[in-house]
Amino acid sequence: MGMPPLHLLISILFGQPVLGHVRPHILFVLVDDLGWADVGFHRDKANPEVVTPNLDSLVASGIHLNRHYVHHMCTPTRTSVQSGRLPVHVNTRLSGPCQDDTGIPYNMTGMAEKMKQAGYKTHYVGKWDAGMSTPQHTPHGRGYETSLNYFSHKNDFYNQSNMQTCCDSDPTIVDFWRTDRGASDVNGTGYSEFLYRQELVNIVQRHDPELPLFLFYAPHVAHCPLQVPESYYSKFAWMADDEDQCKDRMQGIPVDPSNPALEYKCRQQHAAMIMLMDEVVGNVTAALKVRNMWEDTLMIFSSDNGGPVRILENAANNWPLRGGKFGNFEGGIRATAFVSGGFLPENVRGSERGGIIHIADWYGTLCALAGVDASDQRAAAAGLPPIDSVDMWPYLSGAADASPRNTIPVGDTCLISGSWKLMTAATTPSLWQGPRYPNGSTRESEAETPGCSDGCLFNVEQDPTEQRNWYSLRPDIVASMSRQLQQLQLGFFENQDRFANSCPREVANCACWLARNRYGGFLGPYALLDPEIPEEAHAMVV
Ligand SMILES: *[C@@H]1O[C@H](CO)[C@@H](O)[C@H](O)[C@H]1NC(C)=O
Ligand SMILES: *[C@@H]1O[C@H](CO)[C@@H](O)[C@H](O)[C@H]1NC(C)=O
Ligand SMILES: *[C@@H]1O[C@H](CO)[C@@H](O)[C@H](O)[C@H]1NC(C)=O
Ligand SMILES: *[C@@H]1O[C@H](CO)[C@@H](O)[C@H](O)[C@H]1NC(C)=O
Ligand SMILES: *[C@@H]1O[C@H](CO)[C@@H](O)[C@H](O)[C@H]1NC(C)=O
Repeated sequence: MGMPPLHLLISILFGQPVLGHVRPHILFVLVDDLGWADVGFHRDKANPEVVTPNLDSLVASGIHLNRHYVHHMCTPTRTSVQSGRLPVHVNTRLSGPCQDDTGIPYNMTGMAEKMKQAGYKTHYVGKWDAGMSTPQHTPHGRGYETSLNYFSHKNDFYNQSNMQTCCDSDPTIVDFWRTDRGASDVNGTGYSEFLYRQELVNIVQRHDPELPLFLFYAPHVAHCPLQVPESYYSKFAWMADDEDQCKDRMQGIPVDPSNPALEYKCRQQHAAMIMLMDEVVGNVTAALKVRNMWEDTLMIFSSDNGGPVRILENAANNWPLRGGKFGNFEGGIRATAFVSGGFLPENVRGSERGGIIHIADWYGTLCALAGVDASDQRAAAAGLPPIDSVDMWPYLSGAADASPRNTIPVGDTCLISGSWKLMTAATTPSLWQGPRYPNGSTRESEAETPGCSDGCLFNVEQDPTEQRNWYSLRPDIVASMSRQLQQLQLGFFENQDRFANSCPREVANCACWLARNRYGGFLGPYALLDPEIPEEAHAMVV
């Protein structure tokens, strides 16, 4: 990068960025509900159910992260990465954006605010799912200069209409937001991932390459609803005739007796969506290359949780890992992840790192690369937990041999410590899938079967597929890890924010009322920060 412009020089002299620090462009891709076996680089090449040539090539020239942990569901992982806290220190609940305590507490400083402070241009594209109570909770309020996003767990891929959680799932309301207003310029004009591609490519094309770019892309793929353009879907037509599937179905009960074809379609749609997402990632990296930015880019790729194994949800595959989304087996929390990009030192390209990394660690890693202090003074002043994030760059760049992280308190009943994982309560799902779909174990009944009701202890380093339970064989480890978990539990924290609605007092569901009456049909922020607001403010637009 050349000479920084004046405002950067001023921030270098008077702010935190370190003089002479080379700041990479950052492309962060946080995929939704991607299973371990849903990428080519985790599969047997002779079984091409999943076609991901761009991801395969990025990981081949990058670093495969073999123990990159996330929470077992969306909202906690997304609040974790943006806040730099482990989920147990910010939020472990799956909650909708129309709840005040969804996502990141107001007084925590977001990762993009730090990057902006360091002189980065910051942009957000895709799924947010980290709160929207007030304008300060949206991506824009959290430090992204622009956003094209939706707030909930999912929306319709074609018209971006609201699904789940808010306004009784009223589909006439649209969950699509552009920075500080409804995305009325683009809603309903195309398949979501293509709208995101256009947005991402525009951002890259308009960016001044002299300034560092922080681009966060959170695809809707591969989360349900399973919707995909026909041209991608038809590429996997052969999956409906898979011999194994037919054999399996003859042995088992149909998933949905009223619609016997459904179980086949699920996987076909899922595979097509992943191929489409892979192509969009290829388009974005290509755009960075065209502008000569790729050589200075650090790309981070991760799923937000393991794949949901239920055929009726999205038929993801976590083979050979055990379990999936909503559970603490490795299939739920060990995410498909890698880093890539020209910023990586030559000597670490094409390698693998097996040390423990948590998605919360990117906050501190990126602050270190940006040359800005990662500590959160505002949260400290408000009595909120500090960041947990540990700088992984020395480990990833080859300067350090071991990961600086050894421990992850996953939740009230699960602790990872070094190579061991302790689980003290039943967790679901607990099945193993096969390499080829649909291994019978993805049937609804089997997907609902819990495991570890009597406690589990696995050596997930030597036995990542969690076959051998050491719980009764190593009571010493169980006892010491149980004590450690009890100790850590004392510091667990959940978002408890409460705000005053910015609607007329008689309105019961403020977000819906605002969508219908003020935002032109779009879901958006519905609350004010000050709980003691004057009467007239209730009729005011936020
Ligand atoms: C979006 O499409 C669904 C049907 O696929 C429909 O029910 C809904 O009303 C549509 N929403 C909008 C805002 O057009
Ligand atoms: C965009 O959403 C608004 C609000 O629901 C709706 O009135 C409009 O028809 C949508 N646009 C398209 C092209 O679907
Ligand atoms: C995206 O990449 C695909 C595959 O390389 C290519 O065919 C397509 O034209 C690209 N689209 C855009 C909009 O860049
Ligand atoms: C944020 O922190 C300040 C103290 O630093 C406090 O006065 C304020 O109430 C907090 N806001 C929320 C929404 O918690
Ligand atoms: C599914 O795959 C697992 C191995 O991953 C195997 O143990 C199991 O028997 C398979 N089930 C069926 C019905 O093929």
